Amino acid sequence: MAKLWDGRFESESSKLLEDFNASIGFDWQLWHEDIQGSKAHAKMLAKIGILDDKELDSILAGLEQIAKMIESGEFEFKNSDEDIHMAIESKLTQLIGESGKKLHTARSRNDQVALDFRLFCLRANKSITRAILALMQTLLHIAREHTHTIMPGMTHLQHAQPVNLGFHIVAWCCSLQRDVQRFQDSFMRNNLSPLGSGALAGTPYGNDREFVASELGFSAPTLNAMDSVSDRDFALDLLYDIAMLMMHISRISEELVLWSSAEFGFITLSDSYSTGSSIMPQKKNPDVPELLRGKSGRSFGNLIALLSVMKSLPLAYNKDTQEDKEGVFDSVHTAQISLEILRECLATATFNAKNMRKMAQKGHLSATDLADFLVRECGVPFRDSHHITGKVVAYAEKKGVDISALTQEELQSVDPRIKEGANAVLDIESSMQARNSLGGTASARTLEQIENLQTFVVRVSASME
Ligand code: ARG
Repeated sequence: MAKLWDGRFESESSKLLEDFNASIGFDWQLWHEDIQGSKAHAKMLAKIGILDDKELDSILAGLEQIAKMIESGEFEFKNSDEDIHMAIESKLTQLIGESGKKLHTARSRNDQVALDFRLFCLRANKSITRAILALMQTLLHIAREHTHTIMPGMTHLQHAQPVNLGFHIVAWCCSLQRDVQRFQDSFMRNNLSPLGSGALAGTPYGNDREFVASELGFSAPTLNAMDSVSDRDFALDLLYDIAMLMMHISRISEELVLWSSAEFGFITLSDSYSTGSSIMPQKKNPDVPELLRGKSGRSFGNLIALLSVMKSLPLAYNKDTQEDKEGVFDSVHTAQISLEILRECLATATFNAKNMRKMAQKGHLSATDLADFLVRECGVPFRDSHHITGKVVAYAEKKGVDISALTQEELQSVDPRIKEGANAVLDIESSMQARNSLGGTASARTLEQIENLQTFVVRVSASME
């Protein structure tokens, strides 16, 4: 079959080469961006006098018709067309005749693919950012309801100090906030139009690159044509942003897996977001968070794969970069579906406050409070107070109770320096409320953090409308 580039070739390409070389099997997903870019390019060609009004109109109508054909599924993507750019261009000429052949004036597939893929990545950036904000909304809503729900805060996965559930959820939200900021940074850095760079050195037609950039919603054209056709940092930024996001999602998911176990019993996932076992009828498995935890793996792999493709490539365009797309498509899809299902899974879950409190009463979570009380109220140096508290813990252990259950008399029997009022600070509720430093777990402080994040979510959401 004839190729758009076959002028200098004497024999047809082999079928094997055709299949190996083709990217249309995956880059058809850029069809929307390709048509959008071609429309802007055609308008620019008319503006600088390369197309007359009639030609422009017929190109725009032809591109519109192709978009409809693709949407309705009647457009056939063939390996013989090699990629989406040539598939659309040859269909255009088929549909409108001679003027279709003028569309590729002052453009190369090198700047065309750079444009299409950039538009795709920027669009994905926005939709993922929106999905993170939606997840944060849901989390903040849950956090607000649980600023008094006591649970054990952990370090080394061991009971450490009492916190409230809202505070723990706010901690998740902080990592998601950094994700939103990272996506926004990447967006601003990459929101530049490469079109008009030509193959690598610019064009002799006087392309109005500013016009194309503003037509497509970019903030400006890129600076250097050679860099523009070879740069894939915009895709790598997106892959990195997604990898970080998925790492955060995997950490949240790991806690959901732990929390839904019988040992923790902190959370009950709704039936619609749990699965059963084919052999054990009693089982209800947390497949959603487990799969989310697992999905981070492929997002890291996609990042490393593209870094490896780009490593050591000489300027400017190289066919190697055709390998940039599948990993990005996969990571974008993975991030979008992960955010959506995590949000649903959390919105429909039940948090078991009673079990959390029960667990918070194990492990002597208020031991630090007794040590602090000895320093503040009894004039004992911290090292000694740490030692005395250790003895109290040993006493409680021997008795088989949590220190919060000890009476004042028992405390004094361990060490007479422990003054009246000590057993009040051992109460886990007051222990949690006592941590009221800026950023601390006390309910009022947690609420402050929720308000802060809520303002952020509202501000960013409004700026994206
Ligand atoms: N399918 C190619 C890609 O994805 C388009 C650019 C091809 N340019 C070229 N000179 N062969 O990278």
